[in-house]
Amino acid sequence: MAISISLTVNGAPISASIDPNTLLVQFLRDQLRLTGTHVGCDTAQCGACTVHLNGRAIKSCNILAVQAEGATITTIEGLAKDGALHPMQAAFKHCHGLQCGFCTPGMVMSAVSLVERQPNLTGDDVRAQLDGNLCRCTGYHNIVKAVLEGAEGMKSAGTANANAPAAAPATA
Ligand code: FES
Ligand code: FES
Repeated sequence: MAISISLTVNGAPISASIDPNTLLVQFLRDQLRLTGTHVGCDTAQCGACTVHLNGRAIKSCNILAVQAEGATITTIEGLAKDGALHPMQAAFKHCHGLQCGFCTPGMVMSAVSLVERQPNLTGDDVRAQLDGNLCRCTGYHNIVKAVLEGAEGMKSAGTANANAPAAAPATA
């Protein structure tokens, strides 16, 4: 039996009728044709399917589309604004942070979410925090460079720290 869902994807309100066992990644790719979100493993291992749900990176093969009811989703197609690459996309391009590009949409979405929470990063931070995103091609060196450059670009553009955790309340 089909079920109705309503959510916002890349700024557009979407209502759809879906099979209840549809994964979010299937809904995005097959129903909305947002094929920039890739499927590498389908078992929450590789990160190729990473999107933002309410501003946080999640693996879209790991949740049902119905769990995104009412949520705001951003996919790689939603990052560029007015024809201009997002600073993280520009940094991946500038630093050659990709080869085949299969992992890249997920890598970029995870990196943006990371910088929004933690704008000041070291290379070790990037390696530790992006360990859920696997790349078969690059050896990661240029990816780490790209994320650090992208973080600087996001800070300059004022888009870093957007989803930082609230500061802990001061204690007496
Ligand atoms: Fe979702 Fe690999 S396809 S983590
Ligand atoms: Fe090929 Fe990462 S660039 S898998």
